[in-house]
Amino acid sequence: MAETLQNLHPELYKKDIEEARQGEAYAPFAGDPNEFSKKFYIESYGCQMNFSDSEIVASILHEEGFGATRNFEDADLVLLNTCSIREKAEQTVRNRLQSFRKVKESKPGMLIGVLGCMAERLKAKFLEEEKLVDIVVGPDAYRSLPGLINEAEGGQKSVNVLLSREETYADISPVRLDSNGVTAFVSIMRGCNNMCSFCVVPFTRGRERSRDAASIVNECRNLFEQGYREVTLLGQNVDSYYFVPSGVQIDANTDALQQGVTFAQLLEQVALISPLLRVRFSTSHPKDITDDVLHTMAKYNNICNYIHLPVQSGNTRVLQLMNRTYTREWYLAKVKRIREIIPDCGLSTDVITGFCTETEEEHQDTLSVMELSRFDMAYMFAYSERPGTLAARRFADDIPEDVKKRRLTEIINLQNSHSRDSYRADIGKTFEVLIEGDSKRSDKDWYGRNSQNKVVVFAKNDRPLQKGDYAMVRINDATSATLMGEMV
Ligand code: SAH
Ligand code: SF4
Ligand code: F3S
Repeated sequence: MAETLQNLHPELYKKDIEEARQGEAYAPFAGDPNEFSKKFYIESYGCQMNFSDSEIVASILHEEGFGATRNFEDADLVLLNTCSIREKAEQTVRNRLQSFRKVKESKPGMLIGVLGCMAERLKAKFLEEEKLVDIVVGPDAYRSLPGLINEAEGGQKSVNVLLSREETYADISPVRLDSNGVTAFVSIMRGCNNMCSFCVVPFTRGRERSRDAASIVNECRNLFEQGYREVTLLGQNVDSYYFVPSGVQIDANTDALQQGVTFAQLLEQVALISPLLRVRFSTSHPKDITDDVLHTMAKYNNICNYIHLPVQSGNTRVLQLMNRTYTREWYLAKVKRIREIIPDCGLSTDVITGFCTETEEEHQDTLSVMELSRFDMAYMFAYSERPGTLAARRFADDIPEDVKKRRLTEIINLQNSHSRDSYRADIGKTFEVLIEGDSKRSDKDWYGRNSQNKVVVFAKNDRPLQKGDYAMVRINDATSATLMGEMV
C-alpha cells in the first residue's frame, strides 16, 4: 500500500475529517500519480458522504487514465466536491476557486470542475457566476464525468445536474483516497426524504434510495480481506434504509418486511463478516432509530456502541418549525431507551441554535436537553438560512447574529464541560482499542479508538503490535477529547 499522509499521521487525518464536517477541506492522494498520463486534484468539503463520493469519482477518473495528485499546480483537472449546508461552506468554496485563478491563467489547458451539493444547488448559474469553472456536476451524475471532461477539453463548458431515483454507484469500487488501511466509509444509501425545514440536502441530493445490500456486504468483505478492520455505514438517515432485491414483488397481501432488508438486518449481515471487523454507522434520525437496531447493536460485540443522534433543538415548538417530527420528550425517551439497551453507549449530537423565532426560554430548553442527555461530543452550529428551503420560504431569519453567537457560545461551553466529565469518567476503565496508527505527538505511542468512538493514545512498549490490531488499554488520564492509558 502506498505510504500516504494518513498512514503517517492518522490522527491528523481524523482531525481533517472532523473539520470537514464543519466545512473545511481535505485534499487526498491515492497511489502513484506517475502511473497515469493525466492528473487530477480533488478537494472535498462537507459531510462524510461527499468524501465517500470523491472516492467514487476517483475510481471513475482512474478508468479514464487520470491519477490523483496532491498539488493542484500539477493537475490537468482540478475538482472541488462542494457543500451547501451553511452559507460559510459555500463561501469557503468560492474563496478556494479564486486561489485557482492564477494557476489557471498561466495554464490555459487546466480544467476546473465543481462537484457535489453546491453544483446541484446552483446548476448552470455557477458558470455565469464563476467564469473560471468549466464543468458542473451534481451528486447523481458522476458517471457522465468522462463525457463532460471531453466536451470541456474541446472548449465547451459542460453541466450535468440531473438527479436520479436509482443511482447508488453500487457497482463502482471506490478508490480509497488517503486511506490508513484500517478504517473505511461505505455508502449504503443516497438522498433524503425528510424535509427538515432548515436543510438544503433534500434539494441537493434528491430522493432517498437504498443501495443493494449484497453489494454493501461484498464491499465490506473485500475491505476486511484487504486488512481493514472498521467500516462506517453512511447515509443521511440510515434507519430508513430498506432494500428490496430485484425480482421480489411487494404486494398488499405479504409482509414487506419479510422481503426486503432493513437497516437492522444489514447491520447484522455486515457484523457477521468477521468478529474482527468493527461496524459503525451514521447518521441516525431520532424519529426512525428502532429497538431492533439497538438490540442488534447489543447482540454483536463488533457493532460499536456509539450513536450520533442529532437533536437540533430541545424545544418542541422549535422542533415542529424545523419539521423534525419528534418532540423534546420523544428525543429524551430515545436517549433513555439507548441507555437501557446499551448501557455503555457513546452518544453524540448536532445542535442548531438561533433558528427562526427561537426565544431565550426555548434556547434554555436546548441547554437542558443537553444536561439531561449528557452527550460525549457535539457538532454545534448557528442557524444559516439556505435559499429554497422550507424555512427560507416560510419564516424570517429573525434572530440577530450577535444573539445567535452568544447562544452558540453558551451551548459550546456547556458541551465542553460535559465532554470533559465524560472523558474523565473513563479514568480507571479498560477498553478494547483498534489501533489506527502512530500518535501525532510521538511514534512511540499508538493512536486508536474505543467502541464508544473516543480517541485513545497509549505507549507501544515494544510489544509486537501493528495498526489494525486490537489492544486492551487501561485509562489513566484524559482531556475533553482524548483518553490516555496503558496496555494491560
Ligand atoms: N442527515 C443528518 C444531518 C446532515 S447535515 C441528520 O438529519 O441528522 C449535518 C448537520 O448540519 C445537521 O444535523 C444540522 O445540525 C446542521 N445543519 C443543517 N442545515 C443547517 C443550517 N441551515 N444551518 C445550520 N446548521 C445546519
Ligand atoms: Fe437534512 Fe433532515 Fe435529511 Fe438530515 S434528515 S439530511 S437534516 S433533511
Ligand atoms: Fe454538505 Fe451536501 Fe453533505 S450539503 S453536508 S455535502 S449532503
